[in-house]
Amino acid sequence: MSDMGQPGVWITGASSGIGKAAAIEFAKTGAKVFVSSRRESELSKINSEISATKLNVDVYPCNVSSYSNVVQTVKKILVTNQIDCLVNNAGVTSFKTAEQNSIQEIKNIININLLGAIYSIKAVLPYMIERRGGTIINILSVVTHKVFTNSSAYTASKMGLLGYTNSLREEVRKYNIKIINIMPGATSTEMWSPEIKEKNHGRMMKSEEIAKIIAWAYLQKENLITEEILLRPMEGDL
Ligand SMILES: NC(=O)c1ccc[n+]([C@@H]2O[C@H](COP(=O)([O-])OP(=O)(O)OC[C@H]3O[C@@H](n4cnc5c(N)ncnc54)[C@H](OP(=O)(O)O)[C@@H]3O)[C@@H](O)[C@H]2O)c1
Repeated sequence: MSDMGQPGVWITGASSGIGKAAAIEFAKTGAKVFVSSRRESELSKINSEISATKLNVDVYPCNVSSYSNVVQTVKKILVTNQIDCLVNNAGVTSFKTAEQNSIQEIKNIININLLGAIYSIKAVLPYMIERRGGTIINILSVVTHKVFTNSSAYTASKMGLLGYTNSLREEVRKYNIKIINIMPGATSTEMWSPEIKEKNHGRMMKSEEIAKIIAWAYLQKENLITEEILLRPMEGDL
């Protein structure tokens, strides 16, 4: 088992951007962090990047669009650890109109962003219910609050997960399981083209800033839940 008092945090999509920054932020708080994504080589780089800090994360490659892969990953983590917090962060988009999006692109977005998150929740939920506690943090998006074009499948995936987890939250309150939905606006990550990032340099939010809020939300130990957090660049949406 993890050291007594050291929470275990599983973060999906942790090889870059917000997930990677969240992994480092959670490690700084003293949590034992399990990082997953498809690219094992990128996950492994996290430890060499933070070696000077004496922090480290445990690497568990996982493609969240495969339910069996997700279940196997959770089983592997739980052999010697506990999962107190799941951060559903893995996500993709395409920045195309509904007309331009192929069925395969739409399936990919829904499979990763919506079903991948639901698979991860289903895999940890029985464990959290048995332990009578846990936290599930979903990285949604400002698209759940404002209409954007070139984002139809992405918006469907994020609003789908918002609906799923709003319902789930009411079912699991009695087990002391907290569901926290975080809706960031434009954040400078690999999700955006280099041209957009260059043009909006200084305006877009940084992964590290979002990561601090994610860890803060988890660390609220009072008898309350921060159910939703909406984050926007100071100058507004792009
Ligand atoms: N950047 C923004 O402006 C913004 C705004 C609001 C919300 N978000 C959300 O924030 C989350 C993180 O995105 P990001 O902006 O940090 O972009 P990013 O740097 O591209 O990160 C996406 C992460 O998801 C992983 N991933 C993709 N498909 C996966 C799969 N099938 N299984 C497991 N992992 C997978 C990627 O790793 P691999 O390629 O190694 O699998 C990567 O680590 C997403 O859910 C996104 O929708 C981003």
